[in-house]
Amino acid sequence: MTATLPPTLSAQAQAVLDVIHTRRTVDLALLQPDPVPREVTEAILTAGTWAPTHGRTEPWRFTVFTGPGRAQLAEMFAQAYAAGSAPDRDSEPALAAQRARAWRAPLWISLELHMPARPKMPEWEEQAALACAAQNMLLAATAFGLAGKWVSGPVMISPVTAAALGAPKLLGLLYLGYPAGDRPASTRAPLSEKVTWVE
Ligand SMILES: Cc1cc2nc3c(=O)[nH]c(=O)nc-3n(C[C@H](O)[C@H](O)[C@H](O)COP(=O)(O)O)c2cc1C
Repeated sequence: MTATLPPTLSAQAQAVLDVIHTRRTVDLALLQPDPVPREVTEAILTAGTWAPTHGRTEPWRFTVFTGPGRAQLAEMFAQAYAAGSAPDRDSEPALAAQRARAWRAPLWISLELHMPARPKMPEWEEQAALACAAQNMLLAATAFGLAGKWVSGPVMISPVTAAALGAPKLLGLLYLGYPAGDRPASTRAPLSEKVTWVE
């Protein structure tokens, strides 16, 4: 028996699609400093943990930096930058700029990959699961009126940052906050360029 499709989208389906389409990456400069309430942060983290994982491995740990806790993150950024290969890695203004980044979003969540002690799945599957968790968190954040970015630059995935977090591997961090204005517009290639139908 074939399923009968409803003539119009249900309100629930429309709400999910709206959140997916509304989510936008925004720069730090576009965030307001207002803190994100604890219960909102917990709902976002919970959404992350509902990502699918092959073998139910849940290969993630998240460290949340908010409020004065961002001082620790600021030091991690500076230490990772100093240990990197940038030509100005010894420059105090450059290190101060790294520290300053941590204070420009009210909420940061690390994306720490913890492979199981006896891996059942290849690492790419565990990384993919963590990426699903990251997207779940970005979508949940969007539903709460937040915006942010998955950042994966050298400092954000540095082994120095990972070690400071106690993480075997770091896939970057999410920063989140309330956007100051409209989210930036974006586009996607049409389905006709990306999809092959076999009917
Ligand atoms: C795995 C991953 C890593 C990313 N790392 C960065 C980053 O380091 N810096 C950055 O500006 N954007 C980063 N982004 C965000 C993309 O730039 C952004 O998703 C893209 O421009 C599309 O914009 P949209 O998210 O608003 O659709 C990353 C996205 C993903 C999925």
